[in-house]
Amino acid sequence: MKILGIESSCDETAAAVVEITDTHGPRLLSNVVASSMDIHVQYGGVVPEIAARSHIESIMPVIEQALLDAYAGTSIKPSMDELWEDIDGIAVTYGAGLGGCLLVGVTTARTLAISRSKPLYAINHVEGHVYANFITSGSPAITASLKFPANEPKFPLLALIVSGGHSQLVLFRDHFDYTLLGQTLDDAIGEAFDKVAKVLGLPYPGGPSIANMAKRGDPHAFEFPKAKLKDPYNYSFSGPKTAVLRTVQQLCGKSHDFPSFKLAELLSEAQKADVAASFQRVAIETVVDKTVRAFEEFSPASVVIGGGVAASPELRRQLSDRLPIDIKYADPKLCTDNGAMIATLGCYKMKHDQPTADPYTLDINPNLSM
Ligand code: KG4
Ligand code: ZN
Repeated sequence: MKILGIESSCDETAAAVVEITDTHGPRLLSNVVASSMDIHVQYGGVVPEIAARSHIESIMPVIEQALLDAYAGTSIKPSMDELWEDIDGIAVTYGAGLGGCLLVGVTTARTLAISRSKPLYAINHVEGHVYANFITSGSPAITASLKFPANEPKFPLLALIVSGGHSQLVLFRDHFDYTLLGQTLDDAIGEAFDKVAKVLGLPYPGGPSIANMAKRGDPHAFEFPKAKLKDPYNYSFSGPKTAVLRTVQQLCGKSHDFPSFKLAELLSEAQKADVAASFQRVAIETVVDKTVRAFEEFSPASVVIGGGVAASPELRRQLSDRLPIDIKYADPKLCTDNGAMIATLGCYKMKHDQPTADPYTLDINPNLSM
């Protein structure tokens, strides 16, 4: 069976086709991502209305390209009808995410499900991030640019989902059978990276900018605090983020009412590198501490990570150092938002006879939780 996955929850308009059979795991046949990031960079973060408008412009070309790339027939220039004949179902992100952005993907998917008579699967974006780890092969064109683990992860599975909008630790006993162990009480880790990057005058998105700057800094130059919370699996990044701001104000000889956007120009490159390296270490350590604790308590058969911050080499290094298990990481290109993870979860939903969504009534859910 082949599923078309559609993702539009933030600034990436993405579509992909994934195939699954009884004998092989999910195989990625196409993966198209159009990002409006270039426009958001000028504003230092995603502007929801601009992202939604960009989705409207890109979504049909992106979907058509994904269908074309995955086409298995013989026509040299296949018609839309031929492309759709190949597809068995549609999976779409309906939450969590930005309302206007989700609406574009969901409305498009509903219309296509009705007009092409395909079953529709409603996908939780955060759950989708976990499924980037289940893709085990791809078409020749795909494997030229993406690497896959040889096997699907085994259950029980511990999943750390870390992105710009989410920081969650989830224990999966099986597909669709999971418990949320903990999550951030305020900022997501990616959001904290984005905000600290802004204070340091580094470009959006903050995760990769901080990682780059951190290469030249001392990760122990500053001891930023880790939040101490009652629940062992919840975390908080607002304290460490404020500690960065106060430290930078002090370094610049300014009081704590000095505006944060004027600080970067007063810092030397060496100071920026030390703050970036120290914050990155402590932010990553925070989520790794929780993952290690959950590993010890629940003894999962595998550990996976997902979400934009899962592309972080520092996160991969700390996890591999501290966990006594061989972690198979997904290709960094499949950690940020994409249609492949949505299509893959859609494949498992179809394979396991999970309920379909009603294409006449499916609504978005911007605050959907796990
Ligand atoms: O999953 P994603 O693309 O979108 C959301 O669902 O939020 O994640 C975006 C986040 C941003 O906060 C960005 O700073 C972070 O992922 N990010 C990274 C890296 N690439 C993206 N963080 C650390 N290292 C990276 N290489
Ligand atoms: Zn995401």
